[in-house]
Amino acid sequence: MTFLFNSDARRRTIFADAFARELPDVPFTMDAATVDPDAVRYLISWTVPDNLARYRNLEILFSIGAGVDQLRLDAVPANVKIVRMIEEGIVRMMQEYVTLAVLALHRNLPAYLAQQRAGEWADIAQLQAGSRRVGVLGLGQLGQAVLDRLKPFGFALAGWSRLPRWIEGVTCHHGEPGLEEMLVASDILVCLLPLTEETRGLLDAALFAKLPEGAALVHTGRGPQLDHEALVAALDRGHLSAAMIDVTDPEPLAAGHPFWPHPKIILTPHVASVTQPATAARAVIENIRRHRAGLDPIGLVDRSRGY
Ligand code: NAP
Ligand code: GLV
Repeated sequence: MTFLFNSDARRRTIFADAFARELPDVPFTMDAATVDPDAVRYLISWTVPDNLARYRNLEILFSIGAGVDQLRLDAVPANVKIVRMIEEGIVRMMQEYVTLAVLALHRNLPAYLAQQRAGEWADIAQLQAGSRRVGVLGLGQLGQAVLDRLKPFGFALAGWSRLPRWIEGVTCHHGEPGLEEMLVASDILVCLLPLTEETRGLLDAALFAKLPEGAALVHTGRGPQLDHEALVAALDRGHLSAAMIDVTDPEPLAAGHPFWPHPKIILTPHVASVTQPATAARAVIENIRRHRAGLDPIGLVDRSRGY
């Protein structure tokens, strides 16, 4: 009953120590070349290894990240449980990034940076936070945590999910009709959706047209959800004021891509949030304990939904 770790060496040491301490009866290895494939019951990885079929007794495939689209769910045998990463470190980092982005857009930072580069000293009319509406696409572990962190600033908060949700202090919308209701009332739109067939290409010209004039975008979901050309067009004609983009398709962007020099875009290289090994190892160990006790792991992926 071996745990095979298929990720970076830095995180491996912390995971290995946690397994030795907390789950000593589950051998831990990073050595796929020498492991007995029939002994592997648990595997953690970012993508699906090409030779997955050799692990005939695999019970759980853990995603090292919160998203699972990169695992190509249909490449994983139906009897293997797929579990996404739910851990406090990844949540905290996403709260920081989205707070940074929302405040930067609220306080017109991209425009001030452009002015600085042009040697201009001029103030821009500033709204109070209470008059700024922030809408979050996705009300999962990250969307909800981000909204919670934004509450003390006093923004008018809203969120959108597939199924109805109720969150104190947040106007919740759901489903297709709920999307339009939220978009028309979002001055800053944050995308924290998983990549599925329904969300692929969602951030397109039609969606931007529904946002109020001067709205801004924070994209921390997945690259293929965003239509790059539509974003540049909406920014260039002034319908959108600015965007902070963490995920693109492809990653990295090619040299010469219009996002690199765009004065209204702040671009970061898919770093909004990263799994933190100490807290992640704890979450994975707890999930193995649950699984062995006959309980579903926390973060079990519903393959029919794709997340
Ligand atoms: P999660 O807990 O699974 O939550 C997903 C949320 O999206 C749920 O509220 C779900 O609605 C909603 N949703 C999914 N499909 C929808 C649809 N078609 N229409 C409306 N709502 C829909 O996921 P999470 O852990 O919060 O993570 C979200 C995503 O963030 C990940 O999948 C990943 O792509 C991205 N991410 C990015 C970074 C980064 O560094 N940029 C880091 C971590 C994660 P229901 O509540 O109704 O199910
Ligand atoms: C990062 O993008 C993740 O899904 O954890």
